Formats: sequence, C-alpha cells, structure tokens
Amino acid sequence: MSRSVTFAALILSCLSALTAVAEAVSWPWYPTGPGDVCKLIAASVSSASEVYYPNATSYDFDNYHFASSSSQLSECSVEPGTAEDVAAIIKIVGATRTPFAIKSGGHNTNPNFSSTTGVQIALTRLNNISIDPTAQTATIGAGLIYDEVYAALEEHDVMILGSRATGIGVGGFILGGGYSFLSNEYGLTVDTVRAFELVLPNGTISAVTDTSDPDLFWALKGGHNNFGIVTQFTMDTFPIGQVWGGSVMLPTTDYDAVKNATLHFWNNAADPKADVMVGFTAAQNQTLIEVDLFYDGPAPPEGLFDGFMDIPDAAQNMSAMTVRSYLSMVQSAGTNATAGMRGYFDTVSITDLSSSFFDAVLNETTYWYRTLASEVPDVVVHYDVEPFLQNVYSHASADSSAWPPRRDQHFTPMLIYYGWTSPNNDELINQVMQQSSRTLTELAIGEGQDVSNTPLYNNYALYSNPVESMYGDSLGRLRQVRARYDPWRIMDLAGGWKF
Ligand SMILES: Cc1cc2nc3c(=O)[nH]c(=O)nc-3n(C[C@H](O)[C@H](O)[C@H](O)COP(=O)(O)OP(=O)(O)OC[C@H]3O[C@@H](n4cnc5c(N)ncnc54)[C@H](O)[C@@H]3O)c2cc1C
Ligand SMILES: *[C@@H]1O[C@H](CO)[C@@H](O)[C@H](O)[C@H]1NC(C)=O
Ligand SMILES: *[C@@H]1O[C@H](CO)[C@@H](O)[C@H](O)[C@H]1NC(C)=O
Ligand SMILES: *[C@@H]1O[C@H](CO)[C@@H](O)[C@H](O)[C@H]1NC(C)=O
Ligand SMILES: *[C@@H]1O[C@H](CO)[C@@H](O)[C@H](O)[C@H]1NC(C)=O
Ligand SMILES: *[C@@H]1O[C@H](CO)[C@@H](O)[C@H](O)[C@H]1NC(C)=O
Ligand SMILES: *[C@@H]1O[C@H](CO)[C@@H](O)[C@H](O)[C@H]1NC(C)=O
Ligand SMILES: *[C@@H]1O[C@H](CO)[C@@H](O)[C@H](O)[C@H]1NC(C)=O
Ligand SMILES: *[C@@H]1O[C@H](CO)[C@@H](O)[C@H](O)[C@H]1NC(C)=O
Ligand SMILES: *[C@@H]1O[C@H](CO)[C@@H](O)[C@H](O)[C@H]1NC(C)=O
Repeated sequence: MSRSVTFAALILSCLSALTAVAEAVSWPWYPTGPGDVCKLIAASVSSASEVYYPNATSYDFDNYHFASSSSQLSECSVEPGTAEDVAAIIKIVGATRTPFAIKSGGHNTNPNFSSTTGVQIALTRLNNISIDPTAQTATIGAGLIYDEVYAALEEHDVMILGSRATGIGVGGFILGGGYSFLSNEYGLTVDTVRAFELVLPNGTISAVTDTSDPDLFWALKGGHNNFGIVTQFTMDTFPIGQVWGGSVMLPTTDYDAVKNATLHFWNNAADPKADVMVGFTAAQNQTLIEVDLFYDGPAPPEGLFDGFMDIPDAAQNMSAMTVRSYLSMVQSAGTNATAGMRGYFDTVSITDLSSSFFDAVLNETTYWYRTLASEVPDVVVHYDVEPFLQNVYSHASADSSAWPPRRDQHFTPMLIYYGWTSPNNDELINQVMQQSSRTLTELAIGEGQDVSNTPLYNNYALYSNPVESMYGDSLGRLRQVRARYDPWRIMDLAGGWKF
C-alpha cells in the first residue's frame, strides 16, 4: 500500500512541474517520448543547468566515451549544475519511465552503462573541490575527472585515492571500488569514502554516511548506480609530496628479466608505499612489455625495485622512472592513445602468480593478436597483472562495502583490454575475450588457485559476466537496500550492473 501511495506522490510532485512548461509545450500536455521529456526537463531546471540537442558541441561532449562502443546518440543531454536540478531530472525520468544514463568520466567500457538513446545526464558541471584540513577530507563533485582533482589537491600537499590513468571520472571509479597507486597503503578507494551526497530515486537529496544509513552507505561502496545519483563524495585525504615512478615500454627480449622481477615482487614485496603493474600490448605486428612502477616518496628504498631497475635496457627506457608529481605520474602512462576506438575491458581474479601463468598471459596476448590480425588489423590487445600486496583488503572491515563481497582472500584483478574500430567486430571480440578469460581462469584453477569463488572486479568486468561473479554474498543485501530506496525500479531505466 505505502508503495503505491508513495508512487502517486512521486507522480504528483512531477506533474506539478508541468505548470512550468505550459508555455513550452502545447497544453494539455502528455509526454509522448523522450523528446517531450527533454523539454519538460529544460523547463524544470534552474539556470545552473542546461539541456542540449544534437546541434550542440556540449551534446557531443556529454555523449563522448573513452571507448566509442560505449557511446549512443541520446535524444538530448542535460548537464545539471546543482543537486536540486538532479532531483528534478530524476523525478521526471522516473515518473515518465524514460530511459536515461548517468555519466561521470565516461570511461566504463561496457555499452549502455553510461549511455542511452533517452536522456543523457552528464555530471560535468558538478565540479567543485573543497579541502577540509581539520577533518582531513576533500569533497569533490561527481562530474570531475581525477586529473582535475589531483591537480587541485597536490597544491595543498594532500591526495585522495583514485585512478592510475588519465581521464577517469570519480563517479564510476569510486562507486565500483577503485584500485589506486595508494591502495597498498590505504585500501580500496571505497574504503576512504566518508560521505556521499546522493539524490535518491524519489528525488530526495540525502547525506549518506555510516551513521545516517549504514545499509545505503555500504551498498554505494561498489553497488554503482542502483541507488540514485551521487552528486558529491567526501573522501579521506592523505599527505603527499613528490612521488617516484613512471610507465615504460620494453621489447619482449626483456621478457625473462621482467618476469623474474615481477615474480620476485609478488613473492617478497611488503612495502605498502609501492605499487606495480606489468602488462603486454600487441598491436601493429609488435608486442611490447609495459612496466608501471610507483613509490609514494621521492625515491624507492634500496633494493625494492632492483629486479626491474636491472633490466637490460638498450633504449634506456627505464630512465623514465623518476621523481615527479602525483599528477605527472598518473599522466605518464600512454592509456589515452586508444581513446576513441571501440573497446572492452574484462578481468580474471588471481590469487597467485606463477612463472607458467605469467607465460600464459603473454601467450594469450600474442596468440589472440595473431589470430585476429587478419580480420581486425587495427586490433590492440592488452593484458596486465596487478600484484597488490597480501593486505590490500585489510584496511577496512569485512562487511564495510558491497564490493568486494569478501576480504578474506588475497586476490588481485587482471586487466584484459581489446581496442578496435569497426562495429562489425564487436561480437567477435566479445567472444574472444570471454574465451580468453575462461582459459586463464581454468589455468589458474589447474594450478591449484582457489579462484572459482573469487570476486571479479566490477569496474573491469565485461558486461557478459553474471553479477553473481562480482557481488557474490553481497547480492541479497544489495537487493534489500534497493527494495527500500527504489521500489519503483527507476534506476533500472539506466544501464549498468543490475541485480
Ligand atoms: C584507461 C583506463 C584506466 C583505468 N584505470 C583504473 C585504475 O587504475 N583502477 C581502477 O580501479 N579502475 C580503473 N579503470 C576502470 C574504471 O574504474 C571504470 O571504467 C570506471 O567505471 C570509470 O568511471 P567513469 O566515471 O569514468 O565512468 P562512467 O562510464 O561515467 O560511469 C561508470 C558507471 O558508473 C555510474 N556512475 C558514474 N557516476 C555516477 C554517479 N555520480 N552516481 C551514480 N552512478 C554513477 C554510471 O552510470 C556507469 O554505470 C580504468 C579504466 C580505463 C578506461
Ligand atoms: C538546437 O536544437 C534545439 C531543439 O531542436 C533548438 O531549440 C535550438 O534552437 C537549436 N539551436 C541551434 C543553435 O540551432
Ligand atoms: C560549488 O561551489 C559554489 C561556490 O562555493 C557554490 O555556490 C555552489 O553551490 C557549489 N555547487 C555545488 C553543486 O555544490
Ligand atoms: C545497448 O543498448 C542498445 C539499445 O539502445 C541495444 O540494442 C544493445 O544490444 C545494448 N548493448 C549491449 C551490449 O547490451
Ligand atoms: C524518499 O525516500 C526517503 C528514503 O526512503 C524518505 O526518507 C523520504 O521521505 C522520501 N521522500 C519523499 C518525498 O517521499
Ligand atoms: C621505449 O623504447 C622504444 C624503442 O625500443 C621506444 O619506441 C619507446 O618510445 C620507448 N618508450 C618509453 C616509454 O620510453
Ligand atoms: C603486419 O604484417 C602484415 C603481414 O606481414 C602486413 O601485411 C601489415 O602491413 C603489417 N602491419 C603493420 C601495421 O605493420
Ligand atoms: C631475479 O631477480 C632477483 C631479484 O632482483 C635477482 O636477485 C636474481 O638474480 C634474478 N635472477 C635472474 C635469473 O635474473
Ligand atoms: C584523450 O583523448 C581524447 C580523444 O583523442 C581527447 O579528447 C582527450 O583530450 C585526451 N585526454 C587527455 C587527458 O589527454
Ligand atoms: C597459447 O594460447 C592459445 C589460446 O589460448 C592456446 O591454444 C595455446 O595452446 C597456447 N600456447 C601455449 C604454448 O601455451
């Protein structure tokens, strides 16, 4: 009963907005499609916000994604400038049941996760940054990309946890979990959230903290866009100075040395200020090794990265490992080179890294590149391993976040990335990626790794993975929280992980 009463109230509160559009549209007025809904939104939001149509540059920006396969042509886009306007928009799309999308940085590579043919909500105007030195927090608007946040914070010698590459939005990154260069030291990015400002599906603006609503606070930490639209995040800050590291490409003749160094780091590293990523990229008939090293300080301690720094390096590429600012570290990797191509991510979670598994990762890279190259000559194939420390999940309690659903196991995500240009190849690449991640999973199991119940990282996982493989034992509680805050399933009108 209360459900239908509340829904009626919701429709009424939305219809009251109709008086505002009596002049914008002919009256009596009934929304007959997303185009009318765009007009209704335009007439309902304040001057801080704007609605754009396909004739506007901002419309292109609002629909742009890192992977072009994640973009669609929306009926219109809207850039809300205040939380109140976000509330007005969510009430309208909810009451008219209009498909919509929420985009922060647009870097999710799953189609439809932050794009739509309906109303594209681009959060870019929610770009405030404020620092509270006493509370040791920063409050950041949900439409920022991390580059902007890092630039502002490092001026004050503080940092928040965030992406290891350029261009990533704070919204999707934080709501999925967030592996940072600082995760070995301080935990996942969700472990460092103090508060969310959230517009609930019924349009109420709510400050969500561990004490205000522990269930919702828990669910937002990994549960993505199923509970409303986050307008700002209040995050723990940590002191930062100059850091050390960089991202370099090496020829495969260095493979044995890189493998030795990577396994040595995996088996021995204990310094939480260090982070390592090692990957392979095959493109344009060439396979290169990518090594990313990071240290939270102006120089790594003697010996920590020796296996890496001793790599025979004809091109002297390792000299790019140097003291630098945090922002420059994040921008040093070449990840933006494939921006605008079609692209998917997928992932495999591993609990150990053996010599033979590392060999198999290189083999998957070269095997699938060679297999695809005749049909998809421009394909870019990338695999990496991310050897986080044993205690990376111990910075927060076991039931503090919806993702990961368990913290009692040392697992780390592998990133699998394919880029290409023709939409005709989407299905082929999807199938290859599924097969390849199965191959690596089975290999890990064959080596005795207990990975059949290890959570996949939702921010890397390809859309064809079932939500059970990511959320596991968290699913029941996530559904209960959703039933409490979104009994109308308004958030199902937006794409993403749905449970
Ligand atoms: C080049 C590259 C490097 C990466 N590096 C890392 C890394 O170092 N560590 C890591 O953990 N991940 C990394 N990722 C993965 C990244 O975390 C995800 O792609 C993430 O979803 C991107 O966030 P976004 O805001 O840019 O994405 P978007 O596509 O804008 O959003 C992703 C999802 O979150 C939802 N969402 C976004 N903002 C909100 C909001 N305010 N309220 C409600 N829902 C919202 C969207 O609706 C969508 O479903 C990387 C990705 C790329 C492409
Ligand atoms: C763009 O399209 C909208 C909606 O059709 C229209 O109202 C607006 O005047 C157009 N703007 C320009 C600059 O053509
Ligand atoms: C951003 O900051 C300005 C100036 O302090 C303030 O007026 C505005 O309301 C803030 N916007 C949001 C969305 O919080
Ligand atoms: C994305 O949505 C479109 C409809 O807009 C649909 O045709 C397509 O199949 C969806 N893609 C995926 C991968 O779900
Ligand atoms: C919206 O939902 C919240 C949480 O359930 C509730 O506290 C609030 O009263 C609701 N607001 C309206 C206008 O119904
Ligand atoms: C590494 O060396 C190769 C040549 O072997 C060069 O093409 C490449 O640009 C270098 N990369 C970096 C990051 O230094
Ligand atoms: C890759 O190799 C093929 C076959 O040898 C050749 O036709 C093609 O031009 C090469 N592509 C690049 C980018 O070098
Ligand atoms: C492997 O790396 C370790 C640690 O740096 C080093 O001691 C050892 O000599 C290396 N072995 C080979 C074969 O390179
Ligand atoms: C990344 O590439 C896109 C497309 O080429 C470009 O628009 C964007 O500015 C680039 N971002 C950065 C941080 O270089
Ligand atoms: C390389 O990978 C392919 C595809 O998974 C597999 O068929 C092949 O046996 C692998 N080769 C080796 C040497 O492991």
